[in-house]
Amino acid sequence: MKADALVLFGATGDLAKKKLFPALYDLEDLGELDVQIFGVASSKWTQEVFKENVEQAVRARKPDVDEAALGKLLNEMQLIVGDYEDPQTFVALAEAIKDFKLPVIYLAIAPEYFARITEALATVGITRRARVVVEKPFGRDLESAKALDLELKKLLPEEQIYRIDHYLGKEAVEDLLVFRFANTLFEPVWNRNYVSNIQITMAESFGIDGRGKFYDGVGATRDVLQNHILQVLTMLTMEPPIDMGSDAMQNEKMKVLSAIRDINKTDVVRGQFEGFLDEDGVAQNSDTETFVAMKLFIDNWRWAGVPIYLRTGKKMPETVLEVIVEFKQPPRALFGKSQSNQVRFRLGAKDGVDISLQAKKPGTKLVTETVDLSVEFVAEFGDRQGPYERLLRAAMLGDHFRFTRIDSVLHSWQILEDLLKNPNPVIQYEGGTWGPAEAQDLVPGGWAPVGSEADSLKDLHQ
Ligand code: BG6
Repeated sequence: MKADALVLFGATGDLAKKKLFPALYDLEDLGELDVQIFGVASSKWTQEVFKENVEQAVRARKPDVDEAALGKLLNEMQLIVGDYEDPQTFVALAEAIKDFKLPVIYLAIAPEYFARITEALATVGITRRARVVVEKPFGRDLESAKALDLELKKLLPEEQIYRIDHYLGKEAVEDLLVFRFANTLFEPVWNRNYVSNIQITMAESFGIDGRGKFYDGVGATRDVLQNHILQVLTMLTMEPPIDMGSDAMQNEKMKVLSAIRDINKTDVVRGQFEGFLDEDGVAQNSDTETFVAMKLFIDNWRWAGVPIYLRTGKKMPETVLEVIVEFKQPPRALFGKSQSNQVRFRLGAKDGVDISLQAKKPGTKLVTETVDLSVEFVAEFGDRQGPYERLLRAAMLGDHFRFTRIDSVLHSWQILEDLLKNPNPVIQYEGGTWGPAEAQDLVPGGWAPVGSEADSLKDLHQ
């Protein structure tokens, strides 16, 4: 059933400004919104200031805004000002939404408030009929995630909880499933018999952008590896689900996550960019990692023995989100030494796929040269929908497919538990590099080129 109201906690915050308001505008522009929106925030803004901020947030990200859609969105919005600790805030909210049958409550706020606010919502009876969307991070380790789950479950059943990992809203990430399970060509070779290794890189050229206090308490492993990167890994390695229903999908994800072998600490490198300690909000002796790289194995029939390398970091040479699946060499090198086949999924900007092949080099000799088959999805299909637009729509429609299920969230923490409890020391790295040199050594022969480096090799091949 479709929700008839949206309540947005954290309505004056950064996530609302950067992601949620532009996404709501997109839904409005498509004619798919049509609900009343109640922002809730402790900042004492007037309705006018609130609407001005929403308008600015939309205009800043949508240069060709449709005035009618923006006007309609602003008309559908109002702000409820109140302290999250004050029961009166929730009494006022309950009164404001009393005529709505199925509100979606979006908690775009600091995680320490998730349970408290849900409890306050329960006290005024809202949780009986609401869906509650919780942002990441869901806990900060296994124990706290379990505790948060217990608290929420006292107030709401799993069907009413929607845990966000915005990577599940990315079309390019979802395309991994389509690529694998809609193309007969690839699935037969997607296993240990043909794949030599897998590399996932999520790199960001910027630092922590004024989020020092938050980031210092979190670090790269908790911030993006436990969630975004492990989600990409499951999409890439899970077995085909029996159908595209949410449960079938979640069951397969859980199965592959459960097959990840305990990670060897010598296969993990933690790094910190030089200058992190001088950032506002960061403790002077902080050993929080802004970079992490690791090797892991999936001990199941399909993947046994295939090394899987993950890395993520801030202040890297560029912003890229890429997966490289590298295949084994043919059993005999008939044409001399040649490169392995690779499938490179570009999941960030300019998303698409490159498949590198060996072709005969022109001339009398039978030797090979690498050529690429490339597709850029925006060029083929036009613009993609943004992740928050897709997730907000799904929450409004009550579709869990693009949200995380609690068993896999807990298991993702379990996988990293020892690394978080007994972390390796951080190694400093210079901004604008691919992290500490030790991370290079994780992959025999080094990481395959990604981003512009790989693009320029591709240009050379063409
Ligand atoms: C967020 C992290 O979840 O994801 C940020 O907290 C990170 O640190 C961001 O920058 C990356 O998201 P995207 O969609 O830009 O890849």
